[in-house]
Amino acid sequence: MEIKKVGVIGCGLMGHGIVQVAAQGGCEVIAVEAQQDFLDKGLARIEKSVKKLAEKAVEKGKATPEQAEAQAAATLGRIHGSLDKKDLADCDLVIEAIVENLDVKKALFKELGGLCAAKTIFASNTSSFPIGEMAAASGRPARFVGLHFFNPVQLMRLVEVVRTDATDEEVFAAARAFGEACGKSPVSCKDTPGFVVNRLLVPYMVQALQMLERGDATKEDIDTAMQLGCGYPMGPLTLTDYVGLDTTLFILQGWKERYPNEPAFEVPALLVKLVAEGKLGRKTGEGFYKWDGDKRS
Ligand SMILES: NC(=O)c1ccc[n+]([C@@H]2O[C@H](COP(=O)([O-])OP(=O)(O)OC[C@H]3O[C@@H](n4cnc5c(N)ncnc54)[C@H](O)[C@@H]3O)[C@@H](O)[C@H]2O)c1
Repeated sequence: MEIKKVGVIGCGLMGHGIVQVAAQGGCEVIAVEAQQDFLDKGLARIEKSVKKLAEKAVEKGKATPEQAEAQAAATLGRIHGSLDKKDLADCDLVIEAIVENLDVKKALFKELGGLCAAKTIFASNTSSFPIGEMAAASGRPARFVGLHFFNPVQLMRLVEVVRTDATDEEVFAAARAFGEACGKSPVSCKDTPGFVVNRLLVPYMVQALQMLERGDATKEDIDTAMQLGCGYPMGPLTLTDYVGLDTTLFILQGWKERYPNEPAFEVPALLVKLVAEGKLGRKTGEGFYKWDGDKRS
């Protein structure tokens, strides 16, 4: 069960990166978007990133300018844009990276279930929804996995490969092998909320927020403590500003609704308040901190 032809639906922040790493890994890739302007933007991002990587390879002496150029051209030559999901019919694997809305994702997989060949494996890049619900909607739960990449996809080495109780063993192995072909280190996980990384990370961010709410320590001291005491590249409140307070709240509220008795999924009032005030983090210029681009004050 070798994965050679891959479809990626959604060519936004995550999707364009997935398209790129799959093409770098030698797959033919069809990138499907909802609108031409989004597709153009996604493909332009990929071209810029592929060319930057080629320049770096030359700088580091890993390739001659000719080799780097030929490799970049080969990667870009394997990528084809489309606005028509029918072009995904004979893919070995189709990865969904559209908006984080479960009903929209379920409707998409239902449609794909009718469009794609029986061999096609489906994968979702969701950060927070149960893989099993989308698998059921697709009509082919045995051929369904989670493939959770991290942002920025081109640089982050992890992919979480998520299996449900219904996932076929060979399908799971093929999905892991695809992750490796993309240059990632796959980890396997069951279909549990947040998989490995977010299940540990989001409650940690919540604890930091609750410390701030209680006045146990200032935001600067909480962040400095975790940076210097644990060697983390940034503290939890800075990290929440990067992730987006709205995204964090959305994930937590979804989990709280599904698992009301899980104490780690408490929604801090401070998070609700800041989101209501439009303080969503770095992207809006203010969250826990004020932001000017990457500069924090
Ligand atoms: N942003 C992150 O750090 C991150 C990390 C891991 C996983 N994810 C998950 O990846 C998914 C995508 O997130 P993103 O940050 O790339 O979002 P994004 O908004 O940047 O991109 C989504 C893209 O999907 C397109 N789209 C929406 N509906 C579509 C449809 N029906 N058909 C074709 N294209 C469609 C949109 O036009 C948009 O370009 C979400 O499920 C998110 O939870 C995000």
